[in-house]
Amino acid sequence: MRVGEKWVLGIIVALALYAVGKNLWQMGQPRDQDPGIPFYSTASPELARAGSDLYRSLSCKDCHTLWTVRNMFESVPAPPLDGIGSLRDEAWFYVYFSAPDPQAILPSRLKKQFRMPSYAHLPEQDRRTLAAYMGSLKVKDWYLVETRKAEYEKLTGKPYPP
Ligand code: HEC
Repeated sequence: MRVGEKWVLGIIVALALYAVGKNLWQMGQPRDQDPGIPFYSTASPELARAGSDLYRSLSCKDCHTLWTVRNMFESVPAPPLDGIGSLRDEAWFYVYFSAPDPQAILPSRLKKQFRMPSYAHLPEQDRRTLAAYMGSLKVKDWYLVETRKAEYEKLTGKPYPP
């Protein structure tokens, strides 16, 4: 091997070692850049259980996404419910679920079979549980700020804040 070749080989080996070492070092570091999942619930264990039981037995997931889970066989363009309790409160949900005509509260452009059904026929206790459960579904502030920022920049093409 000539001297020049030894140098080239040496540099390649050094670069490879550096790349491997850097990756190993980064793997050992705490990831403070990654803020994690932005959704959480403030529900007590009892409310979380009662709420998700109703959510399941009433097939809300045929149309909605919650905890980023949705029914793969349905493709209803219903709003995702993750973090919904940061946008509306328990009292609003109770009125909404109790309305004989939910579209009088939230208008819909969807076909009749995809619209939010009325749950006015449910026992009052079930509507209260559902409302409290929905109210407990929160999203962290940084996520709302990030979402607003992305939305603003997408719509206006200008950097946020304005
Ligand atoms: C047939 C599909 C369907 C089912 C089943 C359904 N929803 Fe909806 N829901 C919708 C649609 C669509 C909307 C948006 C308003 C509209 O188009 O009527 C909505 C709106 C909502 C909203 C208001 C969201 C917002 O943006 O403020 C909440 C809360 C909600 N649904 C909760 C539930 C819960 C809880 C259940 C189960 C008890 C349920 N939904 C079952 C389709 C459905």
